[in-house]
Amino acid sequence: MQTSSPPVLVTQHGPLRLLTLNRADKLNAFTPEMLASLDKGIEDALADDSTRVIAITGSGPKAFAAGNDIERLVSMDGVAAYRDMVAGQRALLRLHECAKPTIAMVNGYALGGGFELALACDFILASTNASFAFPEITLNTMPGWGGTQLAVAKMGLACAKRFVLSGRRFSAQECEPFGFIHEFAAPEALFDAVQSLAKTLASYDPFAVEMAKRALNRANELPLSAGLDFEAAHYTVNFASEGARAGLRQFIERRGARHAAQIQPAPVTP
Ligand code: COA
Repeated sequence: MQTSSPPVLVTQHGPLRLLTLNRADKLNAFTPEMLASLDKGIEDALADDSTRVIAITGSGPKAFAAGNDIERLVSMDGVAAYRDMVAGQRALLRLHECAKPTIAMVNGYALGGGFELALACDFILASTNASFAFPEITLNTMPGWGGTQLAVAKMGLACAKRFVLSGRRFSAQECEPFGFIHEFAAPEALFDAVQSLAKTLASYDPFAVEMAKRALNRANELPLSAGLDFEAAHYTVNFASEGARAGLRQFIERRGARHAAQIQPAPVTP
């Protein structure tokens, strides 16, 4: 019996849930099944308390994801393309807003929807053979899964225009000054780098991480005064949590123990 392989592979590595786009022969170009499976994988990871960090990567040595499937796009009418775009925007917005920290482990081409997927994650860790582009303009189209908005939020308007309006592919090294890549690693060291970041993120109180992420995500959307009100509300809710009380107490207790160790006992005189 022939069984088709799942569009997204799910593996667990301690607190890290790794979702791997599984279409290497087509450079992990998106199908609706793959997008739905990714969305479901994220939902499942959010529901699992032992998962503290979610990472996404592509299968094979060449690509993170080469974007939406052009063979499908070419036969779509305007309405079908609109529906496809809405599905992509919805999935990526959910990823962007999800309560747990997310890492894009970019192990090759991150093009079009693949670049948008990476930008929807909190962190991008890139292998030295990774490259990034919005090639849509070269196909007389434009990014439609949030790329124009996410790129501006993550790298500023001028850099985003270089990508979206030129269609040019930039190597990971060339992207360094744009600031959206958090760490670079040799291909064979990339997963170790992801695991190391995940370990740090998982060592913090998940509620504090969630509240901080929510506040950060609003920064590009609200005027400063409304953003500060949003931050104040989240600060206050987090401050009242048991995790915050314990974190603050631990600092004081550690300092107390250090001071006690530094106090020398007075010499005993006979
Ligand atoms: N949609 C559908 N299929 C795609 C694809 C996409 N976005 N990107 C790559 N593929 C397929 C290729 O058609 C090829 O399939 P085949 O072996 O059946 O012919 C396979 O993946 C391997 O790609 P190939 O072009 O042979 O690899 P390459 O190393 O020579 O080139 C790219 C890699 C990424 C430069 C090239 O595939 C490319 O330009 N892809 C399109 C990227 C794009 O425009 N994305 C935005 C879409 S909106």
